[in-house]
Amino acid sequence: MRGGSWSGWLAGLSVLGRVFGQDCEVHTLRNSVPTNRKVALQSYSYCGGTLDVTVYTANVNYNKIVELYYTNRQNESTPLAVVSLNYQSSIGTDGKWEYWGANTPVYTDGITELLNLTYQATDIGQTYHQILNIEVEPSGKPEPTLPKPPAPYARPQGFSNDITKFLAVDDGSEAEIAFTNMFANINPAIDGAAKGIVVAARSGPSYPQKIPDYEYNWVRDESLTMNVVETLYAAATNKKAKAQYEKILFQYATARATEQTDPNLQTGLGEPKFYLNNTIFTGPWGRPQNDGPATAATTLIDFANDYLAKGGSMQTVKQQIYDSTNNPARAPVQKDLLFVASNWTTPSFDLWEEESSDHFYTRMVQRRALVLGADFATKMGDSSTASTLSSAADALTATLSQFWDPNRRILLYEYGPVLKDKSSYLDTAVILGIIHGYAHDGVYGYTNGQVQATALRIATSFIDVYPIANDTSDSSGKVLGVPIGRYPEDVYNGTGTEIGGGNPWYLCTAAFAQYMYATADEYSTTRSISVTKVSKPFWDYFAPQAKLQAGKTYKSGNKQFLQAISGLTGWGEAFMRTVKHYTPSDGRLAEEIDRDSGAPQGAADLTWSYASVLTAAFARAALRGEDGYMSDLANLGIKANS
Ligand SMILES: *[C@@H]1O[C@H](CO)[C@@H](O)[C@H](O)[C@H]1NC(C)=O
Ligand SMILES: *[C@@H]1O[C@H](CO)[C@@H](O)[C@H](O)[C@H]1NC(C)=O
Ligand SMILES: *[C@@H]1O[C@H](CO)[C@@H](O)[C@H](O)[C@H]1NC(C)=O
Ligand SMILES: *[C@@H]1O[C@H](CO)[C@@H](O)[C@H](O)[C@H]1NC(C)=O
Ligand SMILES: *[C@@H]1O[C@H](CO)[C@@H](O)[C@H](O)[C@H]1NC(C)=O
Ligand SMILES: *[C@@H]1O[C@H](CO)[C@@H](O)[C@H](O)[C@H]1NC(C)=O
Repeated sequence: MRGGSWSGWLAGLSVLGRVFGQDCEVHTLRNSVPTNRKVALQSYSYCGGTLDVTVYTANVNYNKIVELYYTNRQNESTPLAVVSLNYQSSIGTDGKWEYWGANTPVYTDGITELLNLTYQATDIGQTYHQILNIEVEPSGKPEPTLPKPPAPYARPQGFSNDITKFLAVDDGSEAEIAFTNMFANINPAIDGAAKGIVVAARSGPSYPQKIPDYEYNWVRDESLTMNVVETLYAAATNKKAKAQYEKILFQYATARATEQTDPNLQTGLGEPKFYLNNTIFTGPWGRPQNDGPATAATTLIDFANDYLAKGGSMQTVKQQIYDSTNNPARAPVQKDLLFVASNWTTPSFDLWEEESSDHFYTRMVQRRALVLGADFATKMGDSSTASTLSSAADALTATLSQFWDPNRRILLYEYGPVLKDKSSYLDTAVILGIIHGYAHDGVYGYTNGQVQATALRIATSFIDVYPIANDTSDSSGKVLGVPIGRYPEDVYNGTGTEIGGGNPWYLCTAAFAQYMYATADEYSTTRSISVTKVSKPFWDYFAPQAKLQAGKTYKSGNKQFLQAISGLTGWGEAFMRTVKHYTPSDGRLAEEIDRDSGAPQGAADLTWSYASVLTAAFARAALRGEDGYMSDLANLGIKANS
């Protein structure tokens, strides 16, 4: 249909075409390449809630961002009222022009006016526009309304012994395998690897599995992994084990300072990726990724606080962790924090490294760094930094309400142009943003109703996407939670992209287990559950037996409160059981789980997969009141390598 076969030759001609059994009015503006501009609308239709546009785009350079700005039915033109267009085909044989376009649902908010096309030719630093101001009349069937969440397919309740065994501190348990395999990727036994770095996976040139090449030190993965080491450090009671963790964490602080001071940084401290020798990777990449400085600072602040609490010296903390002004080669924290404070409004690439925008995940982890950082700077006697950080934290906090979409009733993963075809606005990054970014101060925590509403929509979005989601129980009849991926429209299959290629990920599924455990645990502290219209669907799905009502508050001790907690616990176990179900017999965790076969797929021994199982296990132990769990695990110490 592309390429003008149906288009007229008069500007503004409208043609009624049948698309999927409905009458769609296709408006054609022109049917030949423009001579006076670099970008021009060829045609559009807004039919049955789907916008279909085709645009002539001059091929002036390789990297292009082509976006269509519109006004929605609320007569708003926000950063969300933008569609990013895709390359579709080349026009003719001379390579001078291309068709770009999109076919994407924009229902819920609707479109009333097309405002303009904006084309950034990024390699040559040029931006071109076409002002449109075209009023849009919908055609075709009425647009679909937002689907209601499905009825729950199971009602798991309470803890289960199979998961207790899976996560026990016991020879051959998954927790021990995850522990050992995570440490194998810290200071990996590879020639030239710098101390204090983390290889993202055992997949790449040095390993039996060559692709994908994850043989790099990613700032994010490094900081999240080191956060697990720090938790073990805090929990260890065995002196030798504690000293091992302490040594690694000081090495990490130095490694982070090395990253900050690399002479070839292209985008400042948000550089995402380093070689294992910890020099900068300068090839083309999605940069900056401004979550990294925040999660690095958070991990090292946690470490410094625990180090001081056990009697460590203030001077050591200043020289080797905090004071970048006087110790730039060793102490990274102050520098990362000040970077976050002055750059949090800058769009950056997300944790999946796919799109530059304002991301909920990034904002949340930045917020946590600023909040913890302000207290920590005060402790370090640096009141000027402390006040810079707390003002930035306040300003950032004031922007978070933007992410709530009252029409879709979800927290959006980003506030900006939607990634190609990612029109559900659902992304597990939001839940990871809570897990990594909640500052335990009541701002977007586990029990926040908006977070709960979003968690439900994310989890259920995968049911119709992954064939293995049809397997809802294991061989002994126990409930399997929904296998969770990054987002329903994902096309990355672990080595490349293909339509329908996205898979469940171990770390995303473990994150949902952790979210359920931590939510239940937070209620055991607050001792009351307040249900709102926004959060009720969450409870209807995850604890239907409790029959909670909007507008009511349930106190601990009350039967419905207990049933609600039991439902959250049961689903935590169910999500963890899905991780267990798709864990191969040797316990090794890749990045992904094949959506058709359930076999491991993508990068082998992904460090973050192991870290995510451990942090979920910690949340579970906390909910069970098993104080000894973390110290038992921590006291194992590191046996092999490093
Ligand atoms: C929409 O907003 C514009 C300017 O913001 C205003 O001029 C126009 O009257 C509004 N239209 C409607 C239908 O409210
Ligand atoms: C296109 O529309 C957006 C949203 O209203 C606006 O911010 C931008 O300035 C417009 N571009 C041009 C060139 O008018
Ligand atoms: C670091 O490793 C990369 C990749 O192996 C290599 O290209 C680079 O030369 C190394 N840098 C130094 C300083 O050794
Ligand atoms: C971060 O902020 C500093 C200070 O305002 C500025 O110089 C720098 O360019 C910013 N970096 C990025 C990547 O935005
Ligand atoms: C699950 O099974 C049903 C019934 O066989 C089928 O219609 C559906 O497509 C399956 N779901 C997925 C995501 O494959
Ligand atoms: C993933 O997609 C690539 C194409 O980009 C394809 O070559 C590869 O075979 C796919 N991998 C799997 C396991 O399906």
